Amino acid sequence: MHRLFFSFMALCLYTHWAVAALTSGEIANSLNELAQQGFAAKDLVLEINSTADAGPIPDIYTKMDTMVAVVLTDVNFMTNTPIITDQAEEQDVYEGYSNFVQSLLELMGALSSSAAQLKSINETTMNKVPSEIRILQTAIDAYFYNVIGLFPANSSYNAQANNQKAQVDTHCFQAVWAFDRGYSNGNQATYQARRNSSLHSRRIKRGSL
Ligand SMILES: *[C@@H]1O[C@H](CO)[C@@H](O)[C@H](O)[C@H]1NC(C)=O
Ligand SMILES: *[C@@H]1O[C@H](CO)[C@@H](O)[C@H](O)[C@H]1NC(C)=O
Ligand SMILES: *[C@@H]1O[C@H](CO)[C@@H](O)[C@H](O)[C@H]1NC(C)=O
Ligand SMILES: *[C@@H]1O[C@H](CO)[C@@H](O)[C@H](O)[C@H]1NC(C)=O
Repeated sequence: MHRLFFSFMALCLYTHWAVAALTSGEIANSLNELAQQGFAAKDLVLEINSTADAGPIPDIYTKMDTMVAVVLTDVNFMTNTPIITDQAEEQDVYEGYSNFVQSLLELMGALSSSAAQLKSINETTMNKVPSEIRILQTAIDAYFYNVIGLFPANSSYNAQANNQKAQVDTHCFQAVWAFDRGYSNGNQATYQARRNSSLHSRRIKRGSL
């Protein structure tokens, strides 16, 4: 009877583990797939910017929503993934991470530099794009936090990944601001001032800790 009970418990623990943990290989794959999605979204933004055809705009949102769904699912499955100690596995995950980061930097750059065009071909982008960016940024923040936690705290991967995470944040803010500039398209002074004051307030906040 006891043995049966313990086997049952072991089975529960085992299946729970199997459900709640991703292997480092699976995480690396997922990061690389997310990167592809990010690059595809960027290509689409640039294409829309150059053709001035508003038709495919909803596809940008779909691509971003897909990224959010994948990221949030992975976060759930990563909570029990142990810290990666194998150097080759760390490298694998880090490369996927960098790849995804790069795609996000390029996507945000494309959105920033296409903001005026997007707003002029369909003004609903003025609110919709920033809201999509904020949702994506929030999901990615949680996701990156978990991925970074897989690297040993004293490793250079951990430090590098944290730096890259901060760059993604900055680029997201810049893209939101590019859409947030109201109807005074291209008002660089307003943009610069807001950017300055925001960086300033962030610095103050950090300094007061
Ligand atoms: C988007 O289009 C505008 C207007 O045609 C152009 O000035 C801008 O450089 C383009 N942005 C990108 C990233 O190609
Ligand atoms: C602008 O985009 C919205 C939402 O994607 C869409 O419902 C609307 O029909 C578009 N308007 C134009 C003029 O394309
Ligand atoms: C990190 O710390 C662990 C022990 O906590 C140690 O074995 C390892 O060599 C350290 N790695 C680096 C890169 O300092
Ligand atoms: C923003 O900061 C930059 C450099 O820190 C400065 O050159 C620029 O004049 C500032 N812009 C505004 C509007 O305050």
